[in-house]
This record gives sequence, structure tokens and C-alpha cells, in this order.
Amino acid sequence: MTLLAIETSCDETSAAVVSGSRVLSNVVSSQIRLHAEYGGVVPELAAREHLRNLMPVVQSALRDAGVSAHQLDAVAATRGPGLPLALLVGFKAAQALAFVLQKPFLGVNHHEAHLYSPWIAGTPPEADFAAFVPNVSLIVSGGHTMLVHVASELQHRVLGGTLDDAAGECFDKSGKLLGLPYPAGPEIDRLAAAGNPQAYDFPRPLLNDASDDFSFSGLKTSVRYFVRDNPALLGDTRKMCDLCASVQAAIVEVLVTKTIRATRRLGLRCVTASGGVTCNEALRRELTRACAARGWQLRLASRSLCTDNAAMIGILAARKLAHHPPIAPLDDDIKTAWALD
Ligand code: KG4
Ligand code: ZN
Repeated sequence: MTLLAIETSCDETSAAVVSGSRVLSNVVSSQIRLHAEYGGVVPELAAREHLRNLMPVVQSALRDAGVSAHQLDAVAATRGPGLPLALLVGFKAAQALAFVLQKPFLGVNHHEAHLYSPWIAGTPPEADFAAFVPNVSLIVSGGHTMLVHVASELQHRVLGGTLDDAAGECFDKSGKLLGLPYPAGPEIDRLAAAGNPQAYDFPRPLLNDASDDFSFSGLKTSVRYFVRDNPALLGDTRKMCDLCASVQAAIVEVLVTKTIRATRRLGLRCVTASGGVTCNEALRRELTRACAARGWQLRLASRSLCTDNAAMIGILAARKLAHHPPIAPLDDDIKTAWALD
């Protein structure tokens, strides 16, 4: 089964060709530079950029895979959640392609696809997956922060999520307050490497709360007050590194502590993580340390597949089509707020 997958839920235009559990190609065209000028993703611009980039990206994915459109057995696309106009571009293009090729079409949940991204580089991915379920999976990006109990393949339940800002949003908004360009997450990561994470004390919201929920807006607000009261620190390179390391340490401690606590409560010994924030060095290091200390397994998405990509959409679609083909009608609509459960 060879399929083409398309992802346009936010600001990455991506297409991938997947054959069974193998990714033959994965082309990602990021719009980060376009949106950086505005300090965040502008939905209207994102949709227009998807319209401009989608066909070249699809053509590159087919070319890289050495597959022609007529050799495809199915077409898949992200159905939701995401920005409505952005989703529509990829979803409707994929439906049209499936119609023309007279092949099955499948709409995929973006969050569910993130759950499978840690397996993309595995050889063979199925064997690894079986060895890693049940697990607790942390999905952490600019738009979402959630903990999911993955009971078995395609069986999962959301344990908790953010009550306000996502962790990536907290990185980005805190960074903006520190004068860093959008998206600030990677820049905070870079500066934090030379800083002292204990230099400044920022709150760890909901750290000791029994739920699996997160809240990051209070942390962002405390960064706002800190910057208001200590403006001179921003001009000092060493202190900026300390500040970044301290903010990062607060976010990472909450993410790691709550992931470990949920895993222990459920009596599990496996953790996985994906989403853009999983690129973060400190998060990778602390999750690795926490799991190793308990003798648990940890599977992190590879850095290039943490951020949004069509390979994860294709891998999930191929699994679904192989198990019990849930072929979607071609007049299906997008689901902008599609909950994972
Ligand atoms: O998964 P993604 O590409 O898109 C969303 O679905 O949101 O994640 C983007 C987010 C941004 O908030 C970005 O700042 C954050 O991931 N991010 C990082 C790092 N790399 C990306 N945050 C912290 N450290 C990083 N190294
Ligand atoms: Zn995502």
C-alpha cells in the first residue's frame, strides 16, 4: 500500500509518500519566516501560502519517492484540529486527487498522528511499537500540550491537557517578552545551554496538582512582571542566558514531572514524546534521565519529525487502512476542533 499524505493544519505545508511502514519521502515547506514578521501565525497568510506551495511540495514528494500519482493506492490528509482555512487547502486538494485517481481517501487526526511520529525512524516500526505499548505519550507543541494513555495500537485516551497556553506558546510568548524573534522556543533552547537554570525562580504551575492538566499562562505572566521590574537584564548576554535557562527549567520540570507521575499512576513503564517542543534539549535530557532512573523505556520523536510533517499523517493513515479500512466519503468536511478521543 503506497499512499500520499498531506499536512496543512498550521504553518507547515508538507507532503509525504509512505509505503506500509516506510517513509519514501517527506517534504516540509515551513512558513516560519513569513509569520515571524507578525510575531505569530496569521491564519489568512498561512492559507494563501499553503495554496501557493502545496502542488510543488506534492510534486517534490512524489519525485523524491520515485512514485507517480497513478501508482498511489490511497490519499490521506490532516482533517483537524487546526486552522480552518489552512486545513481546507490540504484536505480538499487530497480529496480532489483521490477523486481523480479513483482511490480511497482518509482524513487523519493531527494529534493522533503525533502519537506515531516517534516510530517513524524505527526499523521495523511495527516491532518497536508493540514493545512500547501501553505507554504514556506527551504531545507538546506550539498549539497543544497533552498527556495521552496509549493502551494499544489505535487505542488511546487523553489524560489531560493545557487549561490555557500550550508549552510552546509559553516558550514563544516568554521569548517575545525577552526580545527574541518568533518562534522563540529554539532560541531560548540555544541561549539556555550557556545559562544557569537556578539563577531565577519562576513558578511551576499545577506541578503538585493531582490532575494531568497543565497551565502555562501564569508562568508567562510572571516573566512579563520580571522583565518589567528588571529591564536592564535583557542587555546583559550572560543574564539573558540565565533567564532563558530559568524559564526553560520551569516549563521542562512541569512537563517531565507530570509525565512521570501519570505513567507511575497507571503502572506503566513506557513514555513517548512528540511535537515541536520535543526538539528542546533540556526536555529530551530530563525525560531521558527520569526514565533511565526508573528503568523505563523512552521513545522520543527524532528532531526532524517533532515539528509538523506529513510523514506522521501517512504512517498513521497506512496503519488505519491496513487494519480496518475506514475510507472517508469525498464530501467529508474538515474538523477544526477534533478532539483526540
Ligand atoms: O509541532 P510544531 O511545529 O507546531 C505546532 O503544532 O505548534 O511546534 C512548534 C513549537 C513552537 O512553539 C516552537 O517554539 C517550539 O515548538 N519549539 C521549541 C523548540 N523547537 C521548536 N521549543 C523549545 N525548544 C526547542 N528547541
Ligand atoms: Zn502539531
